[in-house]
Amino acid sequence: MASQLRVRRISSLSTALLFFAALFPAAAQTAEQGKNFPWMNSRLSPDERAALVVKEMTLDEKISLLHGTGMSGLGPVSPLAAKSNGGAGYVVGVPRLGIPAIQMSDAAYGVRMSGQNGRYSTALPSCLGGAASWDREAAYEYGALIGRELRAQGYNMSLGGGMNLTREPRNGRTFEYMGEDPILAGTMVGQVIKGLQAQHVIGDIKHYALNDQESGRNSVNVNIDERSMRETDLLAFEVGIRESDAAAVMCSYNRVNGDYACENKYLLSDLLKHDWNFKGFVLSDWGGTHSAAKASAAGLDHEEPAEIFYGDAYKKAVESGAVPVAELDEHVHRIVRAMFATAVIDDPPQKGVVDVVGGLDTARRIAEQSIVLLKNDHGLLPLDAAKIRSIAVIGDHSDVGMISGGGSAQVDPPGGNAIMPPGKGQTHWQEQIWFPTSPLKAIKAKTPRAQVLYDAGTDPAAAAALAKTADIAIVFAYQWESEGMDLDSLALPGNQDDLIAKVSAANAHTIVVLETGSPVTMPWADEVSGILEAWYAGSSGADAVANLLFGEVNPTAKLPITFPKSDADLPHPTIVKPPAKSSTQDGDTEAWKKIADGLPAFQVHYDEGLKVGYKWYDAEKKPVLFPFGYGLSYTTYAYSGLKVTPGNKVRVTFTVKNTGHRAGAEVAEVYTALPASAGEPPKRLVGWSKVKLNAGESREVSVEVDPKYLSVFNVDRNAWDLVSGDYMVLVGRSSDDLPLKESVRLK
Ligand code: BGC
Repeated sequence: MASQLRVRRISSLSTALLFFAALFPAAAQTAEQGKNFPWMNSRLSPDERAALVVKEMTLDEKISLLHGTGMSGLGPVSPLAAKSNGGAGYVVGVPRLGIPAIQMSDAAYGVRMSGQNGRYSTALPSCLGGAASWDREAAYEYGALIGRELRAQGYNMSLGGGMNLTREPRNGRTFEYMGEDPILAGTMVGQVIKGLQAQHVIGDIKHYALNDQESGRNSVNVNIDERSMRETDLLAFEVGIRESDAAAVMCSYNRVNGDYACENKYLLSDLLKHDWNFKGFVLSDWGGTHSAAKASAAGLDHEEPAEIFYGDAYKKAVESGAVPVAELDEHVHRIVRAMFATAVIDDPPQKGVVDVVGGLDTARRIAEQSIVLLKNDHGLLPLDAAKIRSIAVIGDHSDVGMISGGGSAQVDPPGGNAIMPPGKGQTHWQEQIWFPTSPLKAIKAKTPRAQVLYDAGTDPAAAAALAKTADIAIVFAYQWESEGMDLDSLALPGNQDDLIAKVSAANAHTIVVLETGSPVTMPWADEVSGILEAWYAGSSGADAVANLLFGEVNPTAKLPITFPKSDADLPHPTIVKPPAKSSTQDGDTEAWKKIADGLPAFQVHYDEGLKVGYKWYDAEKKPVLFPFGYGLSYTTYAYSGLKVTPGNKVRVTFTVKNTGHRAGAEVAEVYTALPASAGEPPKRLVGWSKVKLNAGESREVSVEVDPKYLSVFNVDRNAWDLVSGDYMVLVGRSSDDLPLKESVRLK
């Protein structure tokens, strides 16, 4: 009787617990997480821990880790998605075994969807701006800030880390990537992910690979030879993954040499997992999975955003033997391992308040390091506030804000789109969003005694008339871009070229500040006195621009991308657009089904091969507007004493001297021309150092060159070869200004 009573009490207790758990699933999960499971021993390696827990999982639990729970408009949405934190992806986890859910958020230059979720996020300068700093510490800080804000908002995985090489600068996502050089882009993204993962957030690198245009991204087949892709786009990923130990890689929408990237055995298994020894997991871009068995065998670990192929269909494939259990286990192992490796299980995110003030400060400091001074005739800059009586600030919306990049990278400004009336600022897909960082106000704050006038520039003649009355005219010009579109041209849109031409004709002291995602052409470049490239400058953009204009900060950034003279100089005259049958229409409610089934392929040929960015202009002898690696300062630097020491890692030593009158930091760049027999473009970046120098100070700089960066990819041997012969090492200020040269024989 007594024992019967006890049984009843225990069962009613467990019913109560179950009831409690159903009502408060998070609490139930925390209790399990705290349990003393053997895999919770953090002294074991991530692999050991993952192996222990995967052994305990049922088939259904394993399958539940292989896919997200849906996103409206992109496939079926599961009722389980109700527990999502509001980000782009939600994976349920296995609470029974203490494995938490994965809460994913887009986070290219800040955490996305904060407006819609009633939260706040800092917008950093665009990723391309971050690359322009050439500063590894700034890149680490960039990632660390995003990591902290993700955690404060309840996420444990980022979908940032964009690093498609800019083969095509009209790509609408150029601002989300880190430029045209694989070593610069790979190194900088690597630091971003390192900084992010140090906050105990799963880092992701995307979009793997060759997703270099948005037009027809779900159907395009990219044709490129193996050597070219290994030395360009894929090298960027190789470097980024190696530097960061990224826990996840997102495969892209497009096909590469016939197969979709997300079911491409060469990309996912042979290269990423085997040759590069990547230990994390591969997730598909949203709607980028097209099969179960084929994708699984090729190396895709996880489908997003829904279970079209990696849910029931996958389970059946395992049960029928079409997918071996070992293959399933391998995918699950990688996902769980990533969670242990980044400590999202040991140290789950705690929701809290984002450090708004700290974020604004970090965003400003990084913006100051990312804004490139392109032109400064007769030392017009920095402006001397004490001497200026009047300034005309010209340009649409420069009275209220600065523009940001769109698509899934979009960060929501506090209070919504700054150019909308109060209460109407909610951000929308494919809409230009402005941050409330007002250049007009920031300039006024620097010049309390001057008259600061404003004109939107809608009527260029009227703006020029205003400019004529002022000591200085500053034109804020912009080019907006976003995921889901490409630019037709690198020309500034609308009447802006005409506006700048007219203003500069009216005022000899005209400065142009560019807010752009890609390079722009500048038919007026010779007519203006100063040009600053501010990219998309983020939450504190206006303060950063004003600090540079008025010399509180000395510019240090350099271009991570070439500015060509015209579209006609690009490798391809236009971007190949998808034929109607290879695309879906806006508003097509069944679009995701067609995408999942596979739209017919159309072809893009990257026959410029190795000649990406400056390598193209060098090889084709096309003069450019501003070369890769270029950027001015308010001081000057001299280079001397180059010494090249061969060895396992070639060591390049030289001296940089600050020959001007103020402190600064110089990005000293090292390039190499390979022996002619290597068949390479004229030169490539192989390293750099950002050197801080006081006025008059000299410093010896030493750059060690990774042998791979001097090598060529040998397709027959599937290995990198260091070609025997004479290598010319070139050192200097930009890809076009390399005063130091020394030849060295290698091998
Ligand atoms: C984008 C990804 C993004 C995903 C989730 C896709 O459309 O290509 O970069 O992470 O959506 O929002």
